[in-house]
Amino acid sequence: MLWANWTGTSTVPSLALYPHQWSWDSAFIAIGLRHLSPLRAQLELETLLAAQWGDGRVPHIVFNDAVPPGAYFPGPDFWRSATAGRRAGAPGGVQTSGIVQPPVHALAAWLVHRADPGLSRARSFLARLRPRLAAWHRYLMTARDAGGAGLAAVLHPWEQGMDNSPCWDGPLSRVEPADPGAFRRADLDHGAPGDRPTDTDYGRYVRLAAQYRDQGYEDAGRDGTRRDPGAFSVEDPAFNALLITSEYALALIEAELDGTECRSSERRERARALTDTLVARLWDPARALFLCRDLRSDRLIAERGVTGLIPLVLPALPPAVTAALVRTARGPHFGLGGATRLVPSYDLTGPAFDPRRYWRGPAWFNTNWLVAKGLRLHGELPLADRLRAAMLDAADASDFAEYVDPYTGAGRGARRFGWTAALTLDLLRKEEVRT
Ligand code: SER
Repeated sequence: MLWANWTGTSTVPSLALYPHQWSWDSAFIAIGLRHLSPLRAQLELETLLAAQWGDGRVPHIVFNDAVPPGAYFPGPDFWRSATAGRRAGAPGGVQTSGIVQPPVHALAAWLVHRADPGLSRARSFLARLRPRLAAWHRYLMTARDAGGAGLAAVLHPWEQGMDNSPCWDGPLSRVEPADPGAFRRADLDHGAPGDRPTDTDYGRYVRLAAQYRDQGYEDAGRDGTRRDPGAFSVEDPAFNALLITSEYALALIEAELDGTECRSSERRERARALTDTLVARLWDPARALFLCRDLRSDRLIAERGVTGLIPLVLPALPPAVTAALVRTARGPHFGLGGATRLVPSYDLTGPAFDPRRYWRGPAWFNTNWLVAKGLRLHGELPLADRLRAAMLDAADASDFAEYVDPYTGAGRGARRFGWTAALTLDLLRKEEVRT
């Protein structure tokens, strides 16, 4: 099915629901695709990074001109990258969105390289990607450092990727929804309304994105040109853990290209230091979980989302934090190895838990893949093996669903979903490359 979703230069997450190229989807897809076709996996990342903006941002969607305009909302006419994004350096030849998604790309590039180093060297794959990945990380660490502590902030729930997580209910309540008559959702043509975000959520997503667009996609962090960070400005644990993981991967890429020793690189040191910052800014010892920081109030958001478990992928986490996170994953809020088959996207005991609605409870394959990777990294092998087996079962039984009920494994959302298939392939290969 990954062939069916392939357009010739990239892979769509879903033929009907998401008919363009998505940023973090492509990174996860490349991680699986490398086992089938290292060449296609390289092209996947090259296509995405060719749409990078002059300021370093990698857009969350790269639009395919051949797809009819009404097939997805918000499409190119909404984002207007070529005009509204001109000052931020939007590319001329391709239309994109103007927001970003989690930076999984350097990790993906390193894993893709490792799948076939000969082909990678022959095509100068890493050499061509290196400056783009470095500019991407630089953008996140400067223009997006709205909190001033070194972490990257997201300014829209679509950037963090877990669109309607209850973690965003507080910050989003400050946003006046856009007039429902001013836009038409295309997602409900293909998805059950009970599986998708609500109309009120959409109104707020549209308002926030339109405001950012109308300010020329200017950012409020260091080196950013905008002063007001906007209604939604959040430091998120998963987004930053993935940035740190990708910093380690970029250090490996640089060492490979320069023929140097990676262990002592400046970038690696920065990744370690950023891990300490993540703990200092987002760790909540009472809940034994990483939380999101709302930069408008400068307070942690008291909701337990799977985002708070994802820092398990970090090698330099203090051992006490790692141990506490594993206990939390196994406890009543996430049920790993007990009440649930797969780790839910949100607290099982939380008032907003809903086992079917997108990121308000269902289990997703990318987050479970990351949790399993973290468990393995920290030596929790039986738990990681059990989770891997449960993911393989659920993916197969649900026809590679976009997400599943965490208790029953029943499929929700789209089927034949790109990263579900790709990460299944990766789990089947059982290959673990440590970064
Ligand atoms: N996840 C969003 C959607 O549902 C956009 O990235 O379209």
